[in-house]
Amino acid sequence: MQSDTVLVTGACGQIGTELVLALRKIYNNVIASDLKDATGELQDGPFERLDVLHRPGLNDLVKKHKVTQIYHLAAILSATGEKNPEFAWRVNMKGLRNILDVSMENNLSKVFFPSTIAVFGPTTPKVNTPQYTVMEPNTIYGISKQAGERWADYYFQKKGLDIRSIRYPGLISYKTKAGGGTTDYAVDIYFEANEKKSYECFLKEDTALPMMYMPDAIRGTIALMEAPADKIRIRSAYNFSGMSFAPKDVAAEIVKHMPDFKITYKPDFRQSIAESWPQSIDDSYAQQDWGWKPDFDLAKMTTDMLANAR
Ligand code: NAD
Ligand code: SER
Repeated sequence: MQSDTVLVTGACGQIGTELVLALRKIYNNVIASDLKDATGELQDGPFERLDVLHRPGLNDLVKKHKVTQIYHLAAILSATGEKNPEFAWRVNMKGLRNILDVSMENNLSKVFFPSTIAVFGPTTPKVNTPQYTVMEPNTIYGISKQAGERWADYYFQKKGLDIRSIRYPGLISYKTKAGGGTTDYAVDIYFEANEKKSYECFLKEDTALPMMYMPDAIRGTIALMEAPADKIRIRSAYNFSGMSFAPKDVAAEIVKHMPDFKITYKPDFRQSIAESWPQSIDDSYAQQDWGWKPDFDLAKMTTDMLANAR
């Protein structure tokens, strides 16, 4: 067990509920925090109510627990962000600035800040999107995360903060439902397949997007954070790839297990968000710098999701 004290913000969300449990296997003291109350296994360790927009509260909590690392997950995702852009900008930007400043003031050893494929936009090359390319995001979520990447790099370059980041693709999991993103269909489809043997998809059938199964995302996040600092060449955010598929591909995979499963399509405002994002990601920097390699493909993930998404 390592002796660092780790704070996780936004711990009640889709990633946090699984990341906290994984971190508690490595670190003696992992404090989960969120606006909401803890539920389920999160209650088995320390938990604090924390609004990341309240800087004095964040600072007090860091001092009280002698926090040495922060995983800053709290944010507003793409689809929810488009419904209230001002609010999303405030949570994503002011929340991150508070984390960065409190981390500097308290001499934290490491900070994790998740970025996203949403930092890319309609003018970005869509297939095998490179690490360094045109980035003109057109959602408030993407704009805030791209600005966040620049702040992260700035704090590393100018202030020496050891901050690390990944551009997560759409994440698929069954422990906690997805929290208001454009890729949420790829979670919901498995729950509804098990409940009703049918699903109405809010994206068109051939909308390919980069995706990843949660066990890979958790393993990759911890690998990045555990890598020696001199291996981390990128301090904005690493491209990070698992698999790539469209709704019709998931449906075809589900039909292999459930021959009477039916999918229908009723695209909504999330279609144009999805169309502005890459279809697949080139993550060769993550492979070279800290040895990234995913375990799960669509077939292996579908078997596991259908067994557990209930
Ligand atoms: P989520 O929406 O499931 O969870 C976010 C959590 O943050 C929620 O529990 C919410 O209560 C909390 N929160 C919101 N505002 C807060 C505030 N002011 N103070 C404290 N907590 C607050 O999100 P997630 O899917 O777990 O994503 C976590 C991070 O990973 C986010 O930064 C997101 O942008 C990023 N990310 C997620 C995905 C994905 O597919 N899930 C993909 C790319 C990037
Ligand atoms: N899954 C996220 C979203 O759809 C991508 O960052 O918002």
